[in-house]
Amino acid sequence: MSDKKATLSIDGLAEAVELPIYSGTLGPDVVDVGGLTARGMFTYDPGFVSTAACESQITFIDGNKGVLLHRGYPIEQLADESDYLETCYLLLYGELPNKAQKEKFVSTVHRHTMVHEQIRTFFNGFRRDAHPMAIMCGVVGALSAFYHDSLDISDEQHRQVAAFRLIAKMPTLAAMSYKFSTGQPFMYPDNSLNYAENFLHMMFGNPCEPSNISPVLSRAMDRIFLLHADHEQNASTSTVRLAGSSGANPFACIAAGIAALWGPSHGGANEAVLEMLEEIGDVSRIDEFVARAKDKDDPFRLMGFGHRVYKNFDPRAKVMKESADEVLAELGLENDPLLAIAKRLEEIALHDDYFIEKKLYPNVDFYSGIILKAIGIPTSMFTVIFAVGRTVGWIAHWNEMISGSYRIGRPRQLYTGHVMRDYVPLQERK
Ligand code: SDX
Repeated sequence: MSDKKATLSIDGLAEAVELPIYSGTLGPDVVDVGGLTARGMFTYDPGFVSTAACESQITFIDGNKGVLLHRGYPIEQLADESDYLETCYLLLYGELPNKAQKEKFVSTVHRHTMVHEQIRTFFNGFRRDAHPMAIMCGVVGALSAFYHDSLDISDEQHRQVAAFRLIAKMPTLAAMSYKFSTGQPFMYPDNSLNYAENFLHMMFGNPCEPSNISPVLSRAMDRIFLLHADHEQNASTSTVRLAGSSGANPFACIAAGIAALWGPSHGGANEAVLEMLEEIGDVSRIDEFVARAKDKDDPFRLMGFGHRVYKNFDPRAKVMKESADEVLAELGLENDPLLAIAKRLEEIALHDDYFIEKKLYPNVDFYSGIILKAIGIPTSMFTVIFAVGRTVGWIAHWNEMISGSYRIGRPRQLYTGHVMRDYVPLQERK
């Protein structure tokens, strides 16, 4: 905190209002506007463009410099040197684990990868063509019914178990939501495999033959989970925090996060990018789509471009682009037509005045779909993969809030509806 102050003079108030200013370790200062309520005023900030809703120590983003730090470690270093479960440990506990801590964490996750057998029958309530995100919203929320009675959110041990259950079971449930759509049998986790290998085993394995998981694909899958792990107060994480602020159990909060992530402006963008590249179909049609994206009267937007915070390159997109080149080269797909369209689209957009002026750069979703498609993941599963990776970020923020002091989130509003008026009996209405 600091002893800096903002002095606000308000028409109609005799005295100016003094508001405290707080400084963090990195990033902009914030003005504590709580004092305005006593003067009968609220702040107004639709979309929370300029609002810090909480204090946090988990992730820092500098949108102008394209910096993303998890507990101080740059995403580029974590992507190169770390792995997803080690990054989960870092996000949850604040430090990188030593060898023993890492082994214990990984083995504990392994002990929670199976789901209750009743969950398997739960799937039968869905149509086979249900979108896997719809299934995930329902099934993850239903985990509350299996663990709600043994969960005291004020008990750190209970919160730990919930974190392990969610991190461990999300890949299992995600793979089940895919298998269900194919009519193939669900695959049980194989805990002799690492996290990403286990996921690919449950996605593409079958009970009739051993799984043969490509190390190239499992490494790319692990990196995708890692790059999606957390991103400070994005829409879905803020949803989890708001749900958690009412005291809701973590399974219900994560289900709320999954629902918020599904939107095409957020985590649903990776699926929308692939659909857009397929709709463009050929580099010769790119100009037509760029023109549509610039047309105010056309709701079309270039999916995978733009970001609320990054007004420079999304550092995750850079790493994702390198991974896309590696994976496609390893698979002999370097001439993938969609990758060619994506690279040409990026080149054109980054030289177009509209995109330069509005600082619209490729974001994390722009290249992830190309890698996921190369791995063999169906497009409808892209946002599910995002949700699997982001679960640790949601849990880390939920836990940071619940383990500290917090109040129920309850924003106010600018009311522009009717002033008070009397009821009109039916017979007197025109
Ligand atoms: C994620 O918050 C996070 O951290 C999210 C995320 C995470 O890890 O959790 O990073 C993941 O959600 C990435 C974003 C994925 N979404 C998309 O790729 C969808 C396409 N992008 C846009 O919908 C948009 O850029 C947003 C939603 C990402 C950001 O929206 P903002 O911050 O509200 O910006 P805006 O809509 O106000 O746009 C500013 C201007 C507008 O023009 P004007 O009204 O000022 O004239 O830029 C234009 C927009 O029309 N614009 C675009 C555009 N994105 C913004 N124009 C064309 N194509 C685009 N993609």
